Amino acid sequence: MNLFSKNAKLKSFLDNLHSENEKQLIFQARNQFNGTDEEFKQLLTKYNTYNAIEKGKILEENRIKIQNEELALSVSPEMGQFLFMTAMILKPKIILELGSSIGVSTIYFAEALRQINNDGFVIATELSKEKCDNILKNAELVGLNQYVKILYGDVFETIKNINEKIDIVFIDIWASGYMEIFEATRGLLKPGAVFIADNMYSAGKETALFKEYLDKDDTVYNITLDFESGVEYGIILKNN
Ligand SMILES: C[S@@+](CC[C@H](N)C(=O)[O-])C[C@H]1O[C@@H](n2cnc3c(N)ncnc32)[C@H](O)[C@@H]1O
Repeated sequence: MNLFSKNAKLKSFLDNLHSENEKQLIFQARNQFNGTDEEFKQLLTKYNTYNAIEKGKILEENRIKIQNEELALSVSPEMGQFLFMTAMILKPKIILELGSSIGVSTIYFAEALRQINNDGFVIATELSKEKCDNILKNAELVGLNQYVKILYGDVFETIKNINEKIDIVFIDIWASGYMEIFEATRGLLKPGAVFIADNMYSAGKETALFKEYLDKDDTVYNITLDFESGVEYGIILKNN
């Protein structure tokens, strides 16, 4: 059984968002790819068989940039369920999501919080007003809005308004900001808090310094999971 086995409505809602996200990404990649439709089709077939590190390389070689503020850039269904299950295991009170876009990962967390039923909530943060409106609309459509608080604006500013201590932080803003935002949120994280950062391989160049910084930090345990876009998974041992 997985999250969706008993929840057809949520499945169909998220399926649509995932499929729309994939269409947007393929459209964007095609526009940037310098070759014929046939060559693009072949590249796409190959791409889907590659692991996360190879995917990052293939995008770089073909000068395809995924980062685009207009796009949803949502987590995949597998990554979403990974977030959901992590929350189900840890039973967090407060989850902080750094970079929420239209709220797909937010919904996976919110569904876990609904099932845990401990008055917890996810703080969704997003730079774009339009995307914030979509987070709210999407959470309402699946009846999960009571588990979501939205902070609109630059997260480096908006996190200053957070007073709660955080149990899980999901880092998914533009990868070049990971180290700085991690340092900025560090004081909010409880000892024992779990941090998860997406795109460690697909944005390997941008995340390299963050990775180096974590590997040298003796107040965390961390590992890069060779899964999806490369996922940094860590625990805060103590606040430094
Ligand atoms: C990869 S998307 C997040 C996807 C989302 N976590 C999901 O899986 O559904 C990254 C998002 O971070 C937002 N972002 C980037 N820098 C930001 C900042 N400094 N403050 C707030 N949001 C930011 C972008 O607008 C974009 O929507």
